[in-house]
Amino acid sequence: MDRRHALRTTLTALGVAAALTATAQAQNTTPFKIGFILPMTGQSASTGKQIEAAVKLWQAQNGTTVAGRKVEVILKDDAGVADTTRRIAQEMVVNDKVDVLAGFGLTPLALATAPIATQSKTPMVVTAAATSIITAQSPYIVRTSFTLPQATVPIADWAAKNGIKKVVTFVADYGPGLDAEKFFKSQFQLNGGQVIGEIRSPLRSPDFAPFLQKVADLKPDAVFCFLPSGQGAAFMKQFGERGLDKSGIKLIATGDVTDDDQLNDMGDVALGVVNSHHYSAAHPSATNKKFVQAFEAANKFRPNFMAVAGYDGMHVIYNAIAATKGAGGGDALLAAMKGQIFESPRGPILIDAQTRDIVQDIYIRKVERVNGQLYNVEFDVQKAVKDPAKTK
Ligand code: PHB
Repeated sequence: MDRRHALRTTLTALGVAAALTATAQAQNTTPFKIGFILPMTGQSASTGKQIEAAVKLWQAQNGTTVAGRKVEVILKDDAGVADTTRRIAQEMVVNDKVDVLAGFGLTPLALATAPIATQSKTPMVVTAAATSIITAQSPYIVRTSFTLPQATVPIADWAAKNGIKKVVTFVADYGPGLDAEKFFKSQFQLNGGQVIGEIRSPLRSPDFAPFLQKVADLKPDAVFCFLPSGQGAAFMKQFGERGLDKSGIKLIATGDVTDDDQLNDMGDVALGVVNSHHYSAAHPSATNKKFVQAFEAANKFRPNFMAVAGYDGMHVIYNAIAATKGAGGGDALLAAMKGQIFESPRGPILIDAQTRDIVQDIYIRKVERVNGQLYNVEFDVQKAVKDPAKTK
């Protein structure tokens, strides 16, 4: 190489570097956009309300600039209708040019969006929907909520160890309900228990009375129940009205049923219900106490498991923006989301780098009255539970 050539090469390299820096700087002046799609109206509106409040709290506490880049949240209501979710996701990617998609209040809404995440290489942070297969629908999906198999196996273990021999399962008839039904049954049978009936209720506008009558007729030791967030109070009311709480049939559930969003209004019928889940507003850690206090100061309601997943979703996204020094980029963000570990208000969490799903502690809780209010009080825990549907 002669000197002129060497000089030219150096100058070209410098030029490229300068151009790259200029692009990076230009990029950094455009805001980093997070497109949240949530049910703000309709049957699952409480999920939208909880997650929106958590996202606002996260930004109030952590600011709206990360690594020099302004972070903007765009939030749209899909009313829990999958066609609407898909259309909004498309518009957010094409018109708004969002850097990350987030939210998804129900399984069908997440499934409808997965192909858009894949085609556009946009990370999609699922902060609510909980059917196991969701994360397998796109390599761009990361989940901060939970999976039903993850929440269900520990209560099946608890039931078998606590004198419950015959169970009727009662679930909402769609993805997460079917996961709960299947994983309750296999784990309970593995522990020597027997499932003597499997009942499913429709997702939309369910009337629980005929199903509860069936439960009463089958006379199990316990009924295991999964219903999506927002339906627990109506179920509990009918459980009480039909006298099942006094019939000697125990109610056990995933924590979706004894949801912190509604629990305090359920009344005495909920007292003593043993359930398993990843988050309780009564989780006794310093991190959670701070979270609950700030959340309740900003809102007129208590955070539930949807709120904490929204808050942690923001945490994962902010960490990824910081790791890419504000530059973003679908693949770089995704790489930075994989393997994240931090202390959530729920306890320690990990985003499994292989599955992109969350690994977390699952608590066994009992509904108790604490200072005049109903809470899920944790009394046992299975540590660092991976989605069992993915380890089998
Ligand atoms: C879901 O549709 O995946 C879903 C919704 C609410 C829950 C759990 C799962 O509480």
